[in-house]
Amino acid sequence: MANRVLIFDTTLRDGEQSPGASMDLEEKVRIARALERLRVDVIEAGFAIASPGDFAAVKAVAETVRDSRICSLARAREEDLDAAAQALKPAQAPRIHTFIATSPIHMQYKLRLPADQVLEHAVKAVRYARNFVDDVEFSCEDAGRSEPDFLCRIIEAAIDAGARTINIPDTVGYAIPGPFGSLIAELLNRIPNADKAIFSVHCHNDLGLAVANSLSAIQQGARQVECTINGLGERAGNAALEEIVMALRTRNDLFGLETRIETTEIVPTSRLVSSITGFPVQPNKAVVGANAFAHESGIHQDGVLKHRETYEIMRAQDVGWNTNRMVLGKHSGRAAFKARLEELGIQLASDQQLMSLFARFKELADKKHDIYDEDLQALVSAESVAAVPQVYQLLSLEVLSKTGQPPEACLRLMVHQQEKQVQATGSGPVDACFRAIEAIANSGTLLELYSVNAITSGTDSLGEVQVRLNEAGRIVNGQGADTDILVASVKAYLDALNLLHNAAERAHPQRNIDGV
Ligand code: KIV
Ligand code: ZN
Repeated sequence: MANRVLIFDTTLRDGEQSPGASMDLEEKVRIARALERLRVDVIEAGFAIASPGDFAAVKAVAETVRDSRICSLARAREEDLDAAAQALKPAQAPRIHTFIATSPIHMQYKLRLPADQVLEHAVKAVRYARNFVDDVEFSCEDAGRSEPDFLCRIIEAAIDAGARTINIPDTVGYAIPGPFGSLIAELLNRIPNADKAIFSVHCHNDLGLAVANSLSAIQQGARQVECTINGLGERAGNAALEEIVMALRTRNDLFGLETRIETTEIVPTSRLVSSITGFPVQPNKAVVGANAFAHESGIHQDGVLKHRETYEIMRAQDVGWNTNRMVLGKHSGRAAFKARLEELGIQLASDQQLMSLFARFKELADKKHDIYDEDLQALVSAESVAAVPQVYQLLSLEVLSKTGQPPEACLRLMVHQQEKQVQATGSGPVDACFRAIEAIANSGTLLELYSVNAITSGTDSLGEVQVRLNEAGRIVNGQGADTDILVASVKAYLDALNLLHNAAERAHPQRNIDGV
């Protein structure tokens, strides 16, 4: 174990704290299965007390996943720990992760507790959690701004109380790599029982340093790192799993450390998370961005053609690029279709759902010759979109776009079982479509993000569109996929409007929970 770094993925918990990134239960289970295929050591599946939805998601992930530990977050309160333990009951390897803030600013203004009482709460919580599970993690929230002397005291007490993992979060992304690494070294040196626990870090990216801080901590002895796919997470996000894993692997000469990650699953998992959350991956994002392995300059292209390593430090196929597999085609039958969905970890609720998905698959296969795994994932996502009660439904769309003339969209929608039709012009065809929708819906929302991605390569690829709408602070991400990107755009916009109408179901699970 001395040369192993444990990968603790918190995409389903901290990742979901990104505005608009809430996921439903089926989506969380799908991501959890992908994380299991990726072979992460720990999946933080949610914050069981936060909402009935979060409780159900932790439980469903605990029932489904066998090859990764399943963890639930809990404040240092009995009711939180009870909920976490209850939700984790079906897990083969459960972990409770409890936390309390330790920085002077958090203790004084948020908790309104003196340090000694914070320490007492921490010890009580860890002891209480040990009644349910052997594997208890304790986090000192805002450790990055906490006093080392107090950290030493509270961590020693938490380990004595039974914590087996000690997490040092840089909650507000304030740390700088050198000093953060030194803090880890200091804690490991000064805490007398430090050898009884694994030290972990959890870095936020407010200064763009989350990965650098995590790697610096690893160099000083941290052996668990908390991270998320695509760096998703609260505010500027968390440390990106793919960057940490590939830094450790590519610079093994320097770190001499291993993870058990199946790196070829990195890109498929990144795509799945992006498509489910509606958070696109920027093209120049390390490891998983579309340009991460693209060479534009002639000098670079020439070098790579002569000897790949001249300009490439990783192989694209090692992280799962170029692994699009043509799994099915026009002539594939229902059994093959169902079998491939099962291999992808997609479980269908009923025969009826299989029939409906299969019908969509056949429609797609008529338009698109090669059907890849990503296309199947998009079909399933579109199916869960259809499961949201549909206030707005697309009936038909006609768009006229001519050089020198403003594009015009003619749109027919079903709204609350009533057919409506409008025409609108815009500065571009997408703008014309959205203006047409708004002429009917008059939603008063703000369009915060519009992005189009080709799901696979080729001009017959499915276009996947994400639309983020903000209605007085409530943010939703709508999605739509179609071989016609205008139709995909309209579907995504309508999906977002339908999600806003479905307020109760999609309310953010952690919004109503305070930090005390
Ligand atoms: O950022 C943070 O401090 C957290 C803890 C709850 C681990 O997410
Ligand atoms: Zn966090």
